[in-house]
Amino acid sequence: MAIIFPHDVVRIDVEYITEQASSEFAAMAGTKLLLTGAGGFLGYYCIWAIAYWNEHHPKQKISLTALSRFREGIPTWLAHLVKTDDIRVVSSDVTRDPLLADGPYDYIIHAASFASPMVYRQYPIETMTANVLGLYRILDQLVKTKSSRTKLKKLLYFSSSEIYGDPPAERIPTSEDYRGNVSCTGPRACYDESKRFCETLCVNFVRIHGIPIVTVRPFNNYGPGMKITDGRVIADFARNILSGEDIVMHSTGAPSRTFCYVADAMIGYIKALVNGTSGEAYNIGIELPEVSVADLASRIAILAKEHFGYGGRVQQSKSEDKDYLTDNPQRRRPSIQKAKQELGYDPKISLEEGLTRTLQWYQATGRKK
Ligand SMILES: NC(=O)c1ccc[n+]([C@@H]2O[C@H](COP(=O)([O-])OP(=O)(O)OC[C@H]3O[C@@H](n4cnc5c(N)ncnc54)[C@H](O)[C@@H]3O)[C@@H](O)[C@H]2O)c1
Repeated sequence: MAIIFPHDVVRIDVEYITEQASSEFAAMAGTKLLLTGAGGFLGYYCIWAIAYWNEHHPKQKISLTALSRFREGIPTWLAHLVKTDDIRVVSSDVTRDPLLADGPYDYIIHAASFASPMVYRQYPIETMTANVLGLYRILDQLVKTKSSRTKLKKLLYFSSSEIYGDPPAERIPTSEDYRGNVSCTGPRACYDESKRFCETLCVNFVRIHGIPIVTVRPFNNYGPGMKITDGRVIADFARNILSGEDIVMHSTGAPSRTFCYVADAMIGYIKALVNGTSGEAYNIGIELPEVSVADLASRIAILAKEHFGYGGRVQQSKSEDKDYLTDNPQRRRPSIQKAKQELGYDPKISLEEGLTRTLQWYQATGRKK
């Protein structure tokens, strides 16, 4: 069955991902991969990339189990892909349901967690249990089940740039050896501290039990696949634009970030999964440009005008969420030298190009589910 892409942008992106990481995909040929958090933003591209690889390399297929909570049911785009033989969908909660039942697996990508600050502030306990208990349950089952442990080549754990908190100016760009400036009780702590604890779990399961685990720390990925209702800034701006409203910033616009397009980031994740060193963590993002939220808003407004005749302006308005800005890092910019040197990771897609593709995809799909 030929796969049908929801938009040309996704096809172009997965062609790019599978080409740039072709030796890593080839290394996974004939293996079984479990992806948790498959229903989320990064899961979307990971699944499309594997579906595309399998379609174009019928003798080097990767067998994928896509696991997520799927509370609102299996999304239509995924239901279509499941018709191929090599992708299965499992509806499971990582905090309580069986996780390795369809295994044993050669590779595990553990991405289940809420990633949107809007969502994790609202569900702090669920966020902590999904992270800490979810990861612990997988690691514990790996240790206890000999066939699962011996077959596993690598587990990729999705941590976050949030483990660094709000770094001082002299630690920007931030490299992996920075230890962080993080509140353990603030409204973001449920996420940041869970990710920090999980990284500690990972290195100790490597040391004590020899489980091969690599950690990645994503820095502000964006692009197709992120729900327009997600609450992260680019999805919010896209929602404003597509509703024909002004773009609304819930801050002065001063905090700055580097934004990494999802297709580039996905190459980094696949490279880390296959070639990363066990026990190590890698920043995955882009080093430049570092843009303020105000700059981002005006860039996206200009692109929307150019491509869709958008006529809105940029305005400021206080968020209804009283904790919107509490402990919000002022600057976030990674050093990606370690991933460049050790993994050959080299993001190339410009912010303008990535934003344009993202807006085109949102316009065509809406992506509510
Ligand atoms: N996208 C980024 O820029 C970014 C940045 C930092 C860290 N991360 C991390 O990368 C991973 C993926 O991020 P994303 O942007 O795709 O997140 P997302 O919120 O879009 O998707 C996460 C998925 O995990 C699922 N999930 C949550 N709790 C679960 C549970 N208990 N059992 C099973 N599934 C559960 C959700 O239903 C969702 O489908 C997360 O671990 C996130 O913390 C992402």
